[in-house]
Amino acid sequence: MSQRTFKIFRYNPETDKKPSYKTYTIEVEPSWTILDALNEIKWYHDGSLTYRRSCRHGICGSCAMQINGLNDLSCELQISNYPKDPIVIDPLPGFEIYKDLAVNMEPFYAALKRVKPWLINDNPPPGSERLQSPEEFKLMGDSIACILCAACTSSCPSFWTDEDYLGPAALLKAFRYTFDTRDEGFEDRLEALDNKHGLWRCHKITNCFTACPKNLNPTEAISKLQRKVVSEKW
Ligand code: SF4
Ligand code: FES
Repeated sequence: MSQRTFKIFRYNPETDKKPSYKTYTIEVEPSWTILDALNEIKWYHDGSLTYRRSCRHGICGSCAMQINGLNDLSCELQISNYPKDPIVIDPLPGFEIYKDLAVNMEPFYAALKRVKPWLINDNPPPGSERLQSPEEFKLMGDSIACILCAACTSSCPSFWTDEDYLGPAALLKAFRYTFDTRDEGFEDRLEALDNKHGLWRCHKITNCFTACPKNLNPTEAISKLQRKVVSEKW
């Protein structure tokens, strides 16, 4: 066990005039993640601390937050990655604060819904299922691995300045279905994609690529979608 110090963003809009940081020094095990430390603080030091988590295995996407200034999954990062104290923990930027590290994810899910993130194909499946060759599957790249943690969208300056911008996560999802050879919904998604709050708001800053804990590249997916829109329209 060793002692480590965490400086954590605290804000309850119902009772606090403004946000502040609270510092906690606790005993931690060498193998602990940032999420383990938050659990220790909440369960044994300050039950009022609020944050989201569920799977603890980098699958559900609910524990994304900002750690020492970078968006990431708190359940995937070990405390030993951060040799200096304090380790500073903030909520994902760009979203309304519900309380402490828990933010309002409704705009994120609303943007996702606008790109119709499901397979669109009204034709009856040939046989028992719609098959894909390995080559066709590869067209979607790694986009199928997105866990919707919002680390990318929350790191995007274009999202910070345009609340109607779809954001990299929703655009990556649009890419995933547009480049799925079983899908026929390109025209259905075009209205959401082809405007200044959609594909054309991306300025290729690539924060999304840096922030993604799954090493996905929304910027590249957006570029491919942009080229497809241009080639289909002109
Ligand atoms: S692309 Fe990466 S950062 Fe963005 S929502 Fe998906 S997993 Fe999270
Ligand atoms: S708790 Fe599920 S991804 Fe971290």
